[in-house]
Amino acid sequence: MVTWAPKQQSTIHNHATWGIVAMIGGQEKNTLWQRCPSEQQPDKIQLTEERVLQPGDIMAFMPGAIHCVEPVGDEMTVSFNLYGVTDYSQRYQFDPLTQTAKKF
Ligand SMILES: [Fe+2]
Repeated sequence: MVTWAPKQQSTIHNHATWGIVAMIGGQEKNTLWQRCPSEQQPDKIQLTEERVLQPGDIMAFMPGAIHCVEPVGDEMTVSFNLYGVTDYSQRYQFDPLTQTAKKF
């Protein structure tokens, strides 16, 4: 079970495994990113989608998914999260301003 308090925000990160998130309470914005590496910026990412999960919504992630999470509004969020086995050699957090990544 995962909870987020209002005004909290996760880093931009991947999980290096599959995952399923089922919203139970509150609203959670998932901002999704994808890698778009260049020769000069091998860890470059770009925003692809923003999705607000409502109670009852279920979202699945593939191992290559990159996201950040924040509650919407003044209500705490509660979700059930299920992940596969994380490959920690491939788990990163990303900085879109510097277009860099570091182990997470
Ligand atoms: Fe996550």
